[in-house]
Amino acid sequence: MKSVLTIPMGTLHGLLVHGDNLELLASLPGAIADLIVTDPPFFTDKIRTVPRSTSRTNSNGATEASFDDRWRDLDQYKKFLRIRLEEARRILKTDGSIVLHLDYRVVHDIRTEMDRIFGRRQFINEIIWHYTGGGRSRRYFSRKHDTLLWYAKGKQWTFNIDAVRVPYESSSGYAHSGIVGRNGKRYRPHPLGTPVDDVWDIPIINPLSKERCGFPTQKPEKLLKRILLAMSNEGDLVIDPFCGSGTSVVVAEQLGRRWIACDVTEQAIAITAKRLEEIGAGRRFKTAQLGNSEHTS
Ligand SMILES: C[S@@+](CC[C@H](N)C(=O)[O-])C[C@H]1O[C@@H](n2cnc3c(N)ncnc32)[C@H](O)[C@@H]1O
Repeated sequence: MKSVLTIPMGTLHGLLVHGDNLELLASLPGAIADLIVTDPPFFTDKIRTVPRSTSRTNSNGATEASFDDRWRDLDQYKKFLRIRLEEARRILKTDGSIVLHLDYRVVHDIRTEMDRIFGRRQFINEIIWHYTGGGRSRRYFSRKHDTLLWYAKGKQWTFNIDAVRVPYESSSGYAHSGIVGRNGKRYRPHPLGTPVDDVWDIPIINPLSKERCGFPTQKPEKLLKRILLAMSNEGDLVIDPFCGSGTSVVVAEQLGRRWIACDVTEQAIAITAKRLEEIGAGRRFKTAQLGNSEHTS
């Protein structure tokens, strides 16, 4: 594998990097990325492994993976993320934006960090990804959502609402006949459906699904597809510094975005490369190895 620094960014189609993303981010030139979309460890204080029930049904023979999400304390985690988010801001173009995927454990802590790094006024949306499936609690309302924080670097950003419209509810009168306003003007339903709001109902990947690749925190392609369609354009450079099984870059490939993905574990890189090969992207991307692999903090 080549050093990431020797690869000219202008000609880059896809780059899969094994190593600590801090080293990668710090080595990248400023203002190159259109979109950073990433899903870091959630401060679960566990080694994340594939649940046994899922691993038995893992159909495509991928290497089963794990990663370490244990921390000395919250301060250590916050510092780990803060220094990477500062670099992330630096490499964004002035009209670029970042989507950071977290859950109830630390989203409130990291939102204040994001406000400090990007500026409170640069906050665009808190997107709730709601899913069903899995167990139910008898002691409290079951936790069935993650949170995606969307911030822009500057005053402009990409937002393609028409690319992610969803069908109107079948009961919607507006969908059938539109409405007539007080001024007599008729408003007709949009042929592509209604704009999505900031609560997204997207199922988690079914344990029996072919999409499942043997990675413990694999996100559904449908979720990443909505993000990339709405917040980036064809040919844009999308960066995922915590790529895991590579869902973001598999979707980036399918949608004609250029990309850089990084993970600190060899297993995640192997799974991402395998998924990319499965969609026929094997020859289109480069790989790079950084000095400091297998350490998260
Ligand atoms: C929540 S997972 C990402 C899951 C991914 N979105 C998917 O769909 O598979 C977080 C990933 O961050 C990686 N990671 C943790 N620390 C890292 C670091 N310092 N540099 C690069 N990757 C790191 C872990 O190895 C893990 O694969």
